[in-house]
Amino acid sequence: MARARPTLGLRPFLPADAPLLAEIFRASIEALTGDDYSPEQQDAWMSTADDEEAFAANLAGWLTLVGTLDGSPVGFIALKGADKIEMLYVHPAAVGQGVGAMLCHAIETIAAARGARKLTTDASDTALSFFERRGYVPQRRNTVICDGEWLGSTTMEKTLAARDSA
Ligand SMILES: CC(C)(COP(=O)(O)OP(=O)(O)OC[C@H]1O[C@@H](n2cnc3c(N)ncnc32)[C@H](O)[C@@H]1OP(=O)(O)O)[C@@H](O)C(=O)NCCC(=O)NCCS
Repeated sequence: MARARPTLGLRPFLPADAPLLAEIFRASIEALTGDDYSPEQQDAWMSTADDEEAFAANLAGWLTLVGTLDGSPVGFIALKGADKIEMLYVHPAAVGQGVGAMLCHAIETIAAARGARKLTTDASDTALSFFERRGYVPQRRNTVICDGEWLGSTTMEKTLAARDSA
């Protein structure tokens, strides 16, 4: 018998999600970014979740949404302030099933409903084409030092549709 397509879901972040989201963060970087970043750069990037208390506090302080497949968390997105996508990570076992697009669409809708006119993100080289497909336009190249490694990213911006004034 054919297997049913897994059901995509979306819910707000709960403090108890933090350890699993840290795992998703590390697994995503390790498995998905190797064509664009060296192993040393990946290790440095992953190490930003080593302090799980700080990682959890950041997610709790931002607007964080959790994407689920058949009820299990497989990805997350975090909006910092009114208009910056600070994090977007999908577990490697769950990529290509629309989780990233669903999370992005949800955060764009919420940000626009709160009055944001645009969204920005510092996209990894791995995610640049994903964001371009969603209408984000590259603005400038960045390099940041992280645990002794220089990591490149691209600041991208998307103009959001104006709110319905009715
Ligand atoms: C980028 C990422 C979030 C995409 O998540 P995903 O769940 O696989 O994305 P979706 O399945 O929703 O894909 C949506 C569309 O983007 C395309 N897409 C997904 N990842 C892509 C990528 N890396 N490059 C180009 N296109 C991509 C898909 O093919 C799909 O196209 P379609 O609408 O024509 O079918 C995920 O690959 C990831 O976590 N990457 C590693 C971590 C990372 O770099 N995060 C960003 C930090 S800024």
